[in-house]
Amino acid sequence: MAFNFFGKKKAETPAPPDEETPEDAAEPDESEPEDDEEGIPEAVADEDAIDLDWRVRAATWIPGGASTGSKRPAALYGEGTTEGPGHFIRANGCHVTTASERTLIDCTMALGSVSLGYADDAVVRAVVSSVASGNVTGLASVMEMDIAERLCEVIPCAEQVRFLKTGAEAVSAAIRIARTATGRSHVVACGYFGWHDWSNTGAGIPSAGGVVTRVPFNDIDALDAAVAGAGTDLAAIVIEPVVEQLPDEAWLGRARALCDAAGAVLVFDEMKTGFRIAIGGYQQVSEVRPDLAVFGKAMACGFPLAAVVGQRDLMAAAERTWISSTSAGESAALAACGAVLDRYAEEDVCATLARVGEAMRDGVERAIVASGVQGISVHGPAPMWFLRFEEAALETRFLERAAALGVLFKRGAYNYAALAHDDDAILTEVERVASTALVEVMEGEE
Ligand SMILES: Cc1ncc(COP(=O)(O)O)c(C=O)c1O
Repeated sequence: MAFNFFGKKKAETPAPPDEETPEDAAEPDESEPEDDEEGIPEAVADEDAIDLDWRVRAATWIPGGASTGSKRPAALYGEGTTEGPGHFIRANGCHVTTASERTLIDCTMALGSVSLGYADDAVVRAVVSSVASGNVTGLASVMEMDIAERLCEVIPCAEQVRFLKTGAEAVSAAIRIARTATGRSHVVACGYFGWHDWSNTGAGIPSAGGVVTRVPFNDIDALDAAVAGAGTDLAAIVIEPVVEQLPDEAWLGRARALCDAAGAVLVFDEMKTGFRIAIGGYQQVSEVRPDLAVFGKAMACGFPLAAVVGQRDLMAAAERTWISSTSAGESAALAACGAVLDRYAEEDVCATLARVGEAMRDGVERAIVASGVQGISVHGPAPMWFLRFEEAALETRFLERAAALGVLFKRGAYNYAALAHDDDAILTEVERVASTALVEVMEGEE
């Protein structure tokens, strides 16, 4: 297997560039209707005015302006943004068409939840056919077993599977299973795990009583100290294996050894790494095998499906606690997952994601170097790379200009490669737009 994405430079301070960081969630609501109305410059083009009008409507009817934190205007373009589309009406391949009928190349690929392409033919056919046969009934669909079996064939630690709809649900389920199996409560955690109470602090969250200790990425001493602090109450160590950079095997190995010594459960959150770094997630390229793992995002090409998977004896604990959701086994997302599994069986999708991601990332890096603009850098493994700006205002200006010129880059989080980007014309256009946007930003500052 080719790991050409492994060699990229490491970020100095690995603060997670998550889709919805706790910091993002705590940001004040910048999308009050009156602010947005005032924020629309009078001179904007008609088509931009249509996109901005949707911002106003969103701020009126949806608290924060979007139901997904990283799709709020401030999350897309930065605080004080006055431009930039926030809503789409159609998507196909790697293209999104905005409310004002402008089509952009999307480098964000729905926060990594689409690795093939939008409206992929085989996925659409599978979903339509399953929906036409009745999406849910009072009985579980036979597809549940089919997809569970197929996931167990491709995910190293998987012997059984429970399906859920969101990543946050799946990680919560893994923690519930680990706590049930061990009869303990303390969790040591590194990464972003969604919005549920157990992994967050702040407004509206009852204090979790210190049962979760956060540790920094790749830091063995911090891991040792946190586990020592948990004493005999350690239920699990839960790790997101890639946070801006690849993990040190020694760090993962230490987590494995600490869990073994304590009789605790090692959980990998493969939400972003599954079906991307490798189909079976980071555990497929590592020597370290977790006891439980969670998958979602690219697994069902944008349809809502997540799974907690793991060893049979541990998964049995799911029967001694309560993990259930009305729509957990709904057919459309399972059908989408089936089509995704077919595609990954037909071709080495992850190798293409690495190659295409590398081309895209290197093209943007070339544009930055050629522009001479300072304070922007490119980081991350090729299939999930990101831009870092030293100045927020520069970031906003760049992202707004790039969107105006036809490319959507992700602010503060990963850009994700998809099969749909595997086209020289698209990769060249991404580089050209990055280049032009940088020139315009520079000229605007002169
Ligand atoms: C590693 C990881 N875990 C969990 C989640 C939460 O998933 P969801 O947003 O589907 O609830 C995310 C979302 O970005 C994630 O990146």
